[in-house]
Amino acid sequence: MLNEAFHRRDGALWCEDVPLDALAEAVGTPVYVYSAGRIAANVARLRAAFDPLGAAIHYSLKANANLTLIGLLHGAGLGMDAVSAGEIYRALNAGVAPERIVFAGVGKTPQELAYALDAGIGWFNVESEAELRTLDTLAGQRNVRPHVALRVNPGVEAQTHRHIATGHFGAKFGLPPTEVADILARRADYPHVDLAGLHVHIGSQLARPDETVEAARTAQALAAPYPDVRTLNIGGGFPVAYVGDEGYPGPQAFAAALAPLLGGWQVKIEPGRSIIADAGALLVSVLYVKTQGGQRFVLTDGSMTELIRPALYDAVHPVVPVGNLSGDVSDAVVAGPVCESADVLNRCAPLPDMRSGDRLAVLGTGAYGMVMASNYNMRVRPPEVLVQGAAWRVIRRRETWDDLLALEREADSK
Ligand code: LLP
Repeated sequence: MLNEAFHRRDGALWCEDVPLDALAEAVGTPVYVYSAGRIAANVARLRAAFDPLGAAIHYSLKANANLTLIGLLHGAGLGMDAVSAGEIYRALNAGVAPERIVFAGVGKTPQELAYALDAGIGWFNVESEAELRTLDTLAGQRNVRPHVALRVNPGVEAQTHRHIATGHFGAKFGLPPTEVADILARRADYPHVDLAGLHVHIGSQLARPDETVEAARTAQALAAPYPDVRTLNIGGGFPVAYVGDEGYPGPQAFAAALAPLLGGWQVKIEPGRSIIADAGALLVSVLYVKTQGGQRFVLTDGSMTELIRPALYDAVHPVVPVGNLSGDVSDAVVAGPVCESADVLNRCAPLPDMRSGDRLAVLGTGAYGMVMASNYNMRVRPPEVLVQGAAWRVIRRRETWDDLLALEREADSK
């Protein structure tokens, strides 16, 4: 997943015009590094694909919700997709206009719905009739009439890891087509919402557009009798080139497959990964190297608490040396210090001879990396750094032990 942002210069790894060994020396490891240039290029690629469809792009905050990155993406003209009131709070704090935010999520609390209504959120993606009833009541009490899209569960098997497939009937997400049809026919029961759209999101890291097209067709058939239901939110899911997924289609292929369907529709998309994944890398330092059971273990200061994707989804992120290391390459298990056998960053990384203090980059980790980081084993979450050309700055500092104790100390003093 080297690209024009994370590239080699004289054998060493750089991000844009910043040598990453020097950056890691200054900030310490583990650290997440993001390329502003790559983010902009990814946005441009999505725009080139989806602008001809007139699609509004709502960046999926769950992929990476750092305030500075939200600000960048908002500045690039994107709306946002939030799945909790907390994400809405973040987006508002980053300066996003509430009407540019869509609020999705299978289990929004009444408090979250009320917060979003009071904030003036643009669209609500609703996933059950009980939620619709709650939203309608809360909207009536406030004398507002929010835009609502019902999330359809189209009953398709997305080609992806089972943990991130959402469009099949076994999943908790959305409403089955029969129920959507039924609710649409009784729209008048919900006078305080403007039920003007349908939403589908069948999964993430999708291997092909076919099921997305099928889902869009299902939604369109449901909306057909209602000419005022002409907004279709097709969610996110555009894949990136993790190891083994290099041949996956880009956003252009998804747009091309969907284009013939979408004339006359207001289209929304909610990409996350395709904007930020390959714009980020996790830098770690080698602590120790040992051989066991015939395998070379490279133990680093980075772990599953910074990046849980390999443990959770068997995700394979390329791990490459940061410095200019030469010599024969052989497979190594790159693992962290956490007390779990699943604490492995890569089970089969082709690496040269590694020594304590050498640094490694785990590529393609801008999405679902930092946002899923934890404090397990009392580990502090890493800092985040944004690179722009030859300049870089810390956009979130490293946590401290005292940051972690603060909430308990506060509880103690009550
Ligand atoms: N819209 C909805 C309703 C979603 O549920 C998601 C992702 C997206 C948009 C954005 O999907 P993307 O374009 O990023 O594929 N933690 C997992 C991914 C979970 C995705 C959940 N929903 C991972 O690390 O692979």
